Amino acid sequence: MDQIIQDIDIVDRNSQEAMETVKTSKEENTGKTKKLYIESYGCQMNFADSEIVTSIMKENGYDTTSEFENADVVFLNTCSIREKAEQTVRNRLNQFNAIKKRKPEMTIGVLGCMAERLKEKLLEEEKIVDVVVGPDAYRDLPQLVDSAEEGLKAVNTFLSREETYADISPVRLNSNGVTAFISIMRGCDNMCSFCVVPFTRGRERSRDPHSIVREAQDLFDQGYKEVTLLGQNVDSYKWSPEENNKAWLEKKEKKGQEVEIINFANLIEMVAKISPDLRVRFSTSHPKDITDEVLHTMKKYENICKYIHLPAQSGNSRVLDLMNRTYTREWYINRVDAIRDILGEECGISSDMIAGFCTETEEEHQETLTLMDYVQYDFSYMFFYSERPGTLAAKKFEDDIPLEVKKRRLQEIINKQQGISLERNKLDVGQVQRVLIEGVSKRSDEHLQGRNSANKVVIFPREQYQKGDYVNVKIEDCTAATLFGTAVQ
Ligand code: SAH
Ligand code: SF4
Ligand code: F3S
Repeated sequence: MDQIIQDIDIVDRNSQEAMETVKTSKEENTGKTKKLYIESYGCQMNFADSEIVTSIMKENGYDTTSEFENADVVFLNTCSIREKAEQTVRNRLNQFNAIKKRKPEMTIGVLGCMAERLKEKLLEEEKIVDVVVGPDAYRDLPQLVDSAEEGLKAVNTFLSREETYADISPVRLNSNGVTAFISIMRGCDNMCSFCVVPFTRGRERSRDPHSIVREAQDLFDQGYKEVTLLGQNVDSYKWSPEENNKAWLEKKEKKGQEVEIINFANLIEMVAKISPDLRVRFSTSHPKDITDEVLHTMKKYENICKYIHLPAQSGNSRVLDLMNRTYTREWYINRVDAIRDILGEECGISSDMIAGFCTETEEEHQETLTLMDYVQYDFSYMFFYSERPGTLAAKKFEDDIPLEVKKRRLQEIINKQQGISLERNKLDVGQVQRVLIEGVSKRSDEHLQGRNSANKVVIFPREQYQKGDYVNVKIEDCTAATLFGTAVQ
C-alpha cells in the first residue's frame, strides 16, 4: 500500500478519503485541570468528529496535549475501512502498553469506526482499553471516562437516527486558520457490498442547514477562507423544516405531496452566498446522485470550487453491480460528460479505485484502466480490495483474487494515474490561476503553498504574500502531484 503515498502532496489533499495519515491533538493550555490526547485515523469525517469530541471534553474540564505521556485521557479515533487501518490502531495500542504500566491511572479510549464494529470485543481483545465509544455516542464520553476512572470499563456504541452534533462548536484541532471542514450529514444508506461504513456509522441523516450556514459564517468571521462540506454521499443531502427523516420525505414526495425541501444544490448555494471570499468545497459525491442542478449551481458561483471527487471504484459494469454501486460504466461516463459540458475541462475530477474485487477478471480490470483514460482524473486514491467482516461481499462472495494479482493490478492503476496526473497538470502550465494560500511550503521556507480551484497544490516564491491571501499565480512547471509558479499581481 505504500506506493499510494508516493508523494506527500497526494496525501495532504483535502479529500475525505481514508488515508494512512494520522492527526494528533495540539498543545493548548487554558488552565483546565486535566489533559486529553487524541489521535485520529481514517477519513476527514473522523478528523471532524475528533474536533467535536475535543469540544465535548473541553466543556468537561480538559485541555488538549500533543504528548500522550502527559495525558490523563488518551483517545484513538479509529478507522475500519481496510484491514490495514485496523492493524495500525492495534499496533499503536501495543505501543501504549509501556506507558500504561507506568501510569495505570491513565484512561485509554477507542472511538470511531473500530469501536462501533467491534464493541465489547475490543475490551476483551485489547486489555489496555478502558472505554469503547461509537460515532453517535460522543456526548456520553465525559460520563464514560468518569466511570473508567472509578475502575469500571465502559462501552457505548448506540447508533442514532438523529444525532448530528449540530449544536456543538468543533475545536479546530489541526487548523491552518484558512481552511476548515464542516460535517453536513452522518452515516450512509448505500450498502456498497465491500464497505463497512454503513455498519460503523449507521443510517444517513442530514444536519440542519441553518446550523451549517451559521458554522460557515462563524469560520469566515474568524478569518477562515475555505470550508469543505463533508458527508459520505453529499448529493443525497436532504432536509425539511417539517421533518428531517429521509425515508419519510421520500414517501411524501412519491405521493406528490408538497414538502419544503432543502437539497444539496440549495445548501451549497446558501453557503456560497456568505461571501465571495469564502471558498466552498465538498466531498464525497456519489455518481448515482450527482445532479445537473448541483453542477449548474457550481457554475453560477465563482467561489464554489471546480472540483468533484467522484469515486468510480471500477470501470466494469458487472463488477459495479457486484459492488452494489447501483450505476453502470455508461451511467458514470454520462455524469462525467455532464461535468465537462457544464463546467468545462478545468473542473478537477478525482476518483477512488478498488483493484481485485471478488471475481474480477483481467478484462474487467482493463476496463478500469480504460475508464481512467476516458475521464482523465487529476488524481485518484487507489486500493486493493480488503474483505471486511460482516459486509455483503464478505457474506456473498469469495475473496478469490490472489494477493499478488491484486497488488499487480493496483500497481497498473497507480502507474496509469501517475501518467494521467502529469498530463493533466501540464495543461495548467502557462495559465494564471487563483490560489488560496494555506501556509509555507513543506519543502522550503522561501515558498508558499496553496490550492487552485481544482484542488491542486500550487507552490510559488513567498515574496510579500501571506497565509489566507488569494493570489494569482502563473503556473510555470509541474510534477504529477504539484504545480509550481510565480505570483503575478
Ligand atoms: N463514501 C465514499 C467512500 C468512503 S470510503 C464513496 O462512496 O465513494 C473511501 C474509499 O475506500 C472508497 O471509495 C473505496 O475506494 C475504499 N474502500 C472502501 N472499502 C474498501 C475495502 N473493503 N477494500 C478496499 N478499499 C475499500
Ligand atoms: Fe461506503 Fe458506499 Fe457508503 Fe461510500 S457510498 S460510504 S463506499 S457504502
Ligand atoms: Fe471514515 Fe474509516 Fe470510518 S473511512 S467513516 S473512519 S471506516
